[in-house]
Amino acid sequence: MIVERLTDLPAADGADAAALAALETATQLRPLPLPLLLAETGAGPHATDGVVLVARGPDGTVVGMASGRRMVDELHVLRLAVDPAHRRRGVGAALLAGLLAAATDPPLRAVVLEVRADNTAARALYAAAGFVADGRRPRYYPDGEDALLLRRPVDRSVHRPVDRPVAPAAGGAPGEGR
Ligand SMILES: CC(C)(COP(=O)(O)OP(=O)(O)OC[C@H]1O[C@@H](n2cnc3c(N)ncnc32)[C@H](O)[C@@H]1OP(=O)(O)O)[C@@H](O)C(=O)NCCC(=O)NCCS
Repeated sequence: MIVERLTDLPAADGADAAALAALETATQLRPLPLPLLLAETGAGPHATDGVVLVARGPDGTVVGMASGRRMVDELHVLRLAVDPAHRRRGVGAALLAGLLAAATDPPLRAVVLEVRADNTAARALYAAAGFVADGRRPRYYPDGEDALLLRRPVDRSVHRPVDRPVAPAAGGAPGEGR
C-alpha cells in the first residue's frame, strides 16, 4: 500500500475519480459529489491550504482517502475513509499520519476534527493517534447524533504531533472525514 498526495485532481484520471466517488458513497451517510468534496478542502495544484491523499493497493487502485484543510496554524481533518474491504490493515492510520506530515510547513499548532459519537472505529483510531476530546456539538448530524470535537496538539519545536513520531509517507507525499 502506498499513500500519495493528489495534486492533479481526479478529473485528470477517470479511474481515480470513479474510485473516490465509490468510496464516498460507501463511507458517508451523506455523500458529496466529488467536485464538492474536493472544493471543501481548497485543494488543488496551486493551493497550499488543502491536502488530499489517496492510499493505493498493490494494483494501484484507490482503497482509501484523507483530506484536510489548514486554517492558520490548525489542520482540520475533513475526510478519512477506507474501502470496507481493506479495513483493519493500517490504511486509515497511514492516511492520517500522511495528512499530518503533509501539512507541517508552516508548522501546525494543532490538528482538529469532528467525529460522530457513535463512530467507534474512527474514535479508536483517533485515540490511538493521540487525539483527545475537546468538546461536543449536541445533535450536530442530521440524524440527531452528537459530534465530538477532537484535538491533537503539535509540538512546534519539532514540527510533528506530540507523543508520536510521524511515519514518513510512502509514494511521494511531500514530507504525507469526517
Ligand atoms: C475509521 C476508518 C477510516 C478506519 O480505517 P482502517 O484502515 O480500518 O483503520 P486502521 O486499520 O488503520 O486502524 C488503526 C487502528 O484504529 C483502531 N480501529 C480501526 N477500526 C476499528 C474498529 N472497527 N474497531 C475498533 N478499533 C478500530 C484500532 O486501534 C486500529 O489498530 P489495530 O488494527 O492494530 O487494532 C474506517 O473504518 C472507515 O473508513 N470508516 C468509515 C468512514 C469514517 O468513519 N471515517 C472517519 C470519520 S471521522
